[in-house]
Amino acid sequence: MRIIRAKDYDDMSRKAAAIIASQVIMKPDCVLGLATGSSPIGTYANLVEGYRKGDLDFSGITTVNLDEYKGLSRDNDQSYFYFMNHHFFGKVNVDPERTFLPDGTETDSDKACREYNRIIENVGGIDLQLLGLGHNGHIGFNEPNTVFEAETHCVDLAPSTVEANKRFFASVDDVPRQAYTMGIKTIMQARKVLVVVSGRDKAAAVKAAFFGSITPQVQGSVLQLHSDVTVVADEEALSEL
Ligand code: F6R
Repeated sequence: MRIIRAKDYDDMSRKAAAIIASQVIMKPDCVLGLATGSSPIGTYANLVEGYRKGDLDFSGITTVNLDEYKGLSRDNDQSYFYFMNHHFFGKVNVDPERTFLPDGTETDSDKACREYNRIIENVGGIDLQLLGLGHNGHIGFNEPNTVFEAETHCVDLAPSTVEANKRFFASVDDVPRQAYTMGIKTIMQARKVLVVVSGRDKAAAVKAAFFGSITPQVQGSVLQLHSDVTVVADEEALSEL
């Protein structure tokens, strides 16, 4: 595991975008695993800037996102599809036919998850998976104590995750209680993993996930077993080390 120290959020975002940019330049038809949340917004902004300047071409890439809320349609402004369109897909020349997220409108969880596993397999697996880290150490929506063997599955969100995400909704009651997420097995099969973490409120999670014992209680700790992980973290996120 490589830990890259960034000064602050902006520096973290520039460094993470540079890593993704080099992946796209080296393999223009690569498969990027993407994440939502606050952590990667700046990374996407830097990639969009690279595209606008003519330095980056996303026309050959395929993307598979980590997760999607169950029950939200694509046009709901809190869906992860909407987020991706707003921050990235709608601003670069990625082929919309090759951007994939779990289908939040599919009420049959087994079907939605089976279909998403099939999509990931069909695109040939993930070259580079971008991740954020939850306060409880989750990656994707893999909440504490999920088995590491899981592929895409439907999860009940932990109360702390509902609480953390309520800032994006009109009220806590509007936050969906379930989501479809890639499992740890799927994430661990990515050929490279890039984690972006920022802020003092993430410092305990960084310490537990990357310097503590490997345990399903801290889902991100499994990344210590992956052979190619880069963590770009800012000084505040590294402040408990
Ligand atoms: C997002 C995701 C989550 C977030 C994590 C951190 O697709 O799967 O695991 O990466 O909750 O969220 P932020 O970046 O908002 O602190």
